[in-house]
Amino acid sequence: LPLPPLRAALLAWFDREGRDLPWRRGPEGARDPYRAWVAEILLQQTQVARGLGYYERFLAAFPTVQALAAAPVEDVLKAWEGCGYYARARNLHRAAALVSAQGAFPQSYGAWLALPGVGPYTAAALSSFTLNAPQAVSDGNVRRVMARFRGERTPSPAWVQAQADALLDPARPGAWNEAVMDLGATVCTPKAPRCASCPLAPWCAARASGAPANFPAPKVR
Ligand code: ADE
Repeated sequence: LPLPPLRAALLAWFDREGRDLPWRRGPEGARDPYRAWVAEILLQQTQVARGLGYYERFLAAFPTVQALAAAPVEDVLKAWEGCGYYARARNLHRAAALVSAQGAFPQSYGAWLALPGVGPYTAAALSSFTLNAPQAVSDGNVRRVMARFRGERTPSPAWVQAQADALLDPARPGAWNEAVMDLGATVCTPKAPRCASCPLAPWCAARASGAPANFPAPKVR
């Protein structure tokens, strides 16, 4: 694979067409960790369109990690109302106490992963967005993008992560992760992928097959 041109193509598309979302403001690779963290926890189980209002409401209620740590857990659960999966709010509150006590947000992928409520996907997102760490995110959208790009009908989780790691642009890991997220959400969609608008189309195996929606194969259940 010609990595430099395909990376340049996706990042140029992202710079033009990437979504303007409130948690994406601030310097690339050096985002405000509090705002980035609240967003990633919210987006674990809440869709972007629904999450926007909840995000602003939560940040207005708790503008800093110190304010969140100092609040009674009941107030945090109240501010989370409507989002569901309240374990996320409890983990935010517990993690805020840890971060407040440590005096700083995590400074590595591993340190992010150690916070309550932060799994491998969220740690990769947050370390790339806030520390420019070269960690590729892997979730359902990334699985679909990688399966199509490489023409793999039955991608295993390890295979998806390996592809994502290999493609990640080490010069702009945070932007790369957001670009793959946006590609999966707006172009490389499950049912009718918009290949004509896809910056990766020249190198895409599923596109070359003529039936991109056949990748990956439906899960047998
Ligand atoms: N889903 C999970 N994290 C996201 C982010 N940072 N931007 C858009 N969608 C997301």
